[in-house]
Amino acid sequence: MIHSASFFGLFFMLLNGVFGDTDEVKSVSVLEGDSVTLNTDVTEIQRDDHILWMFGPQEVRIAEIHRQNIYIDATGTIFEKILQIDSQTGSLTIRNIRSEHTGLYKLQIIRRGTLYKRFIVTVYARLPVPAITQDSSQCSSSSSNCSLVCSAVNVSHVTLSWYKGNSLLSSISVSDLSISLSLPLEVEYQDKNTYSCVINNPIRNQTKHLNITQLCQTHTCADHRSSFMMAVAFIVPLVVIAVVAGLIYRRNCKQPNKGNTRNEEMHYAEPAFCTRPLQSMAVFTEDRTVYSTVVI
Ligand SMILES: *[C@@H]1O[C@H](CO)[C@@H](O)[C@H](O)[C@H]1NC(C)=O
Ligand SMILES: *[C@@H]1O[C@H](CO)[C@@H](O)[C@H](O)[C@H]1NC(C)=O
Repeated sequence: MIHSASFFGLFFMLLNGVFGDTDEVKSVSVLEGDSVTLNTDVTEIQRDDHILWMFGPQEVRIAEIHRQNIYIDATGTIFEKILQIDSQTGSLTIRNIRSEHTGLYKLQIIRRGTLYKRFIVTVYARLPVPAITQDSSQCSSSSSNCSLVCSAVNVSHVTLSWYKGNSLLSSISVSDLSISLSLPLEVEYQDKNTYSCVINNPIRNQTKHLNITQLCQTHTCADHRSSFMMAVAFIVPLVVIAVVAGLIYRRNCKQPNKGNTRNEEMHYAEPAFCTRPLQSMAVFTEDRTVYSTVVI
């Protein structure tokens, strides 16, 4: 205990060294869209108090109380229309906060001496409810198992986890980048345990419970296979018929060319007519009638 206390003492001394004459650093986590109030811990502002709120490494002045007058000029900045300062305490409220408001806020209270406070504000995105789907690409692994995947799209600073009852089975985390996360799970169709997929950031979580009977369709893989077989069963005979028909057609097309001696028929025997089946059929009938008259 003594060790850790002295360690923290040293830590804050170092922090003071880095930040200058800091009295206090407070971490504040807030969800996007919510409001946050940074407290001065001043009970009542005195007439000559000067209270100054600054933001970011450049310490841009964002709000001020001087001689009991409030000054907020955030026009054209990321703080436009969302700042409020309490005239009694000087506390700063940021309404409808966005991720760009993440950062260091510095408070300076000038009374007889000068008091500093710092707030590290972290804005977390709202969490989507994770989605659980059957992973149909995994259908060949085991016939008695169901492959599932839990996923969340465009998330950052979150952890995605599978729980069986209250015990953690697996988890995956992402920090800065906004990416899509997915985490697989394999369960047996007969499994009666309760499973849930949880997404969380340091301040919130969202849970999706798994319903095995609803999600795991036992016959999905069989269906895929049978529809593939059906397709094959349709396509193969069609191809065979097309090839055979093509061969017969080619043979028939050439026939009129062979025995043709009469001028009248030479006209029909031009290669072009083979491309149009109906015409060539007409030609064959004509051919045959011509020959039969000769025989009689
Ligand atoms: C089926 O799932 C269980 C977990 O529910 C796992 O222990 C087992 O190894 C899986 N079997 C196969 C063949 O993947
Ligand atoms: C989710 O948040 C609630 C409070 O909002 C908490 O009671 C619960 O333990 C959290 N669950 C997980 C898995 O972190």
